[in-house]
Amino acid sequence: MKIIAGYSSVNLTHAVCKMLDTKPVLPTYKRFSDGEISVDIAQKDIQDDACLLIHSLSEPVNDTMIALLLTIDALKQSGAKKIVGCLPYLAYTRQTAASLITSLMHAAGAQKCITIDPHITIRNAIIPIDALSTAQLFADHIKATHNLQNLVIVAPDQGGVERCKHVRDALELTSSLACIDKIRLDGLCTVQAVHGDVLGKRCVIVDDIIDTGTTLYGAAEALMKHGAAEVFAYCTHGVLSETALDRVQQSVIKKLVITDSITQLQNALKSRKIETISVTHLIAQQVKLYLIQNNP
Ligand code: R5P
Repeated sequence: MKIIAGYSSVNLTHAVCKMLDTKPVLPTYKRFSDGEISVDIAQKDIQDDACLLIHSLSEPVNDTMIALLLTIDALKQSGAKKIVGCLPYLAYTRQTAASLITSLMHAAGAQKCITIDPHITIRNAIIPIDALSTAQLFADHIKATHNLQNLVIVAPDQGGVERCKHVRDALELTSSLACIDKIRLDGLCTVQAVHGDVLGKRCVIVDDIIDTGTTLYGAAEALMKHGAAEVFAYCTHGVLSETALDRVQQSVIKKLVITDSITQLQNALKSRKIETISVTHLIAQQVKLYLIQNNP
């Protein structure tokens, strides 16, 4: 199987390839003066091979989406036998448009999609989707860096409860979750209530996305107001748009752990409050499983 480094995920693809002891195929991307993107992949690099394209739908998300479709098409035109799109971050799931994205991927030539912690369970997709979970990755990191006594996992909204349960179960904790009620006005979140026992506890918020940062900021403030001892946060996808970094810096959160599902800019990488852990192993494991199941 050939592993292709998509436009937005070059570093992650190199890391996956290193783990699998192979070299990535690097498409050539160009941009015309009107903004159109062109993709070129040498036929000799992939002909008759199954291809895994690693390409997160990160900012600028609409350009990245078009680049994804053009890269799938370029792989098909160059004779790829089968195309699997690995989108560590699958954008547009918050507005339940994932089945549209996968339909477009299918139309371009992909037969399968792999993603990590999609915002919702994706139903009715035209191609099969493997949704990988960071629950064990986060649990391992929490175990390695925290005393589990007095620790409570916090869902920053009702939609995050299932995700948090998976992390709590992976930690083999028996404690109840805490949960926050929030409302979103004009794209920004406000906390309405904190449910659960957080008094004197080390609170660990687990979420799928940090975008503007208002959810985490508000949740952490509310937890401290309700007597939490300290607050940490784990988010799979560091979208970190607008002033999210400033919000994180100014928040009461002691440490935010994100993954490399999205390539981060230097200022996020330099932040002392932010630690990045890698999803390389998750993707590499899935590639190995795919190879065993499909023997391409
Ligand atoms: C929403 O339901 C998601 O799980 C995240 O909580 C949300 O997308 C975070 O967005 P923001 O950082 O803009 O508050």
